[in-house]
Amino acid sequence: MKSLIIALALVAAVPLPAHAEHRTPRDLRELAYQNGIRIGSAVDIAALRNEADYRKVLNREFSHVTAENAMKWESVEPERGVFTWSHADALVDNARRNNQKVRGHTLIWHNQLPAWLTSGVENGTIDAAELREILRDHITTQVRRYKGKIRAWDVVNEVVNDDGTMRQSIWLTHLGPGYIADAFRWAHRADPHARLYINDYNLEWNAPKIETTLSIVKDLQAQGVPIHGIGFQGHLGIQYGYPGDWANVMSRFADLGLEVAVTELDVRMELPVTPEKLATQADYYRRALTDCLSVKACREFTVWGFTDRHSWVPGWFEGQGAACLFDENLAPKPAYHALLGVKKA
Ligand code: G3I
Repeated sequence: MKSLIIALALVAAVPLPAHAEHRTPRDLRELAYQNGIRIGSAVDIAALRNEADYRKVLNREFSHVTAENAMKWESVEPERGVFTWSHADALVDNARRNNQKVRGHTLIWHNQLPAWLTSGVENGTIDAAELREILRDHITTQVRRYKGKIRAWDVVNEVVNDDGTMRQSIWLTHLGPGYIADAFRWAHRADPHARLYINDYNLEWNAPKIETTLSIVKDLQAQGVPIHGIGFQGHLGIQYGYPGDWANVMSRFADLGLEVAVTELDVRMELPVTPEKLATQADYYRRALTDCLSVKACREFTVWGFTDRHSWVPGWFEGQGAACLFDENLAPKPAYHALLGVKKA
């Protein structure tokens, strides 16, 4: 209906009725469309497969998806050279049927690595040269499988510590710092159209991490390495305050020519939930989207799960939770309505 009104207005060369452009969107998908971005969610594959109400809300609201766990190394290559794609495929297939773009998460991380890999490196049966080969094969195989189906890959995840030093993962200690450039080059070769990202948490506010990450990007660019995007995870909590400089930090990366994405937003709180806490949470979500929309290069705004029914928070932070846009019964919370009210400045 809206496009019909717009088309008629264009043909008749009359101004659009104000409500056609500015009416409150009916859901996040429409909000994203009106603002020229994609709004996404991490997806719990078991819920996607088994819970019809979860599936319905996911596919109605979101135009971008990320596998919460199903594309991580332990999930896709649980045994050396033996790849299990069924969960990752289910996500990609569902995305295609529902006009959702996909973020691949993640090619290199220090967590959720399979035991064959970590123990082989630890006991010396996998030496550095072999490790490099294993990494190259893993990246090439996974990126190639989803060539043309994944808009953006988190190539490296969380490679910088909070104090700005490089994380001493098995990758850094055995392969040296060049593994990052190698990973981007291998991924690019496997799918030249995928946008390749570096992704991290606390990057919204932590100065040492921000500065180190900026220099990694500049260094990669100076070497001609194909890096295209910066992912801000955005795991926030109302007890810590909102990272007020976030838009400025996004701009600093955008100024290097990078695309920007919020990749894992959630806003946790100490339980129990109160109306006041929900209002503060809503304000954080609203500000995060406002920050993203204020930076032209910010193209994706993804939440790390959309329902409190399936969220990593309670399992990781004792006494905390309720971090998502929908409650456990999939009723929208104040944060959801706050997002719908966000307007581009
Ligand atoms: O798959 C096993 C299952 O076989 C077993 O029965 C069960 C028993 O606990 O555990 C299952 O594994 C869990 C896995 O998620 C899959 O559900 C792990 O215990 C659990 O630790 C793991 O947590 C994930 C976490 O990453 C691991 O570090 C969370 O779901 C996931 O939300 C979280 O996501 C990360 C991003 O990838 C990177 N940024 C931070 C973010 C939050 O930590």
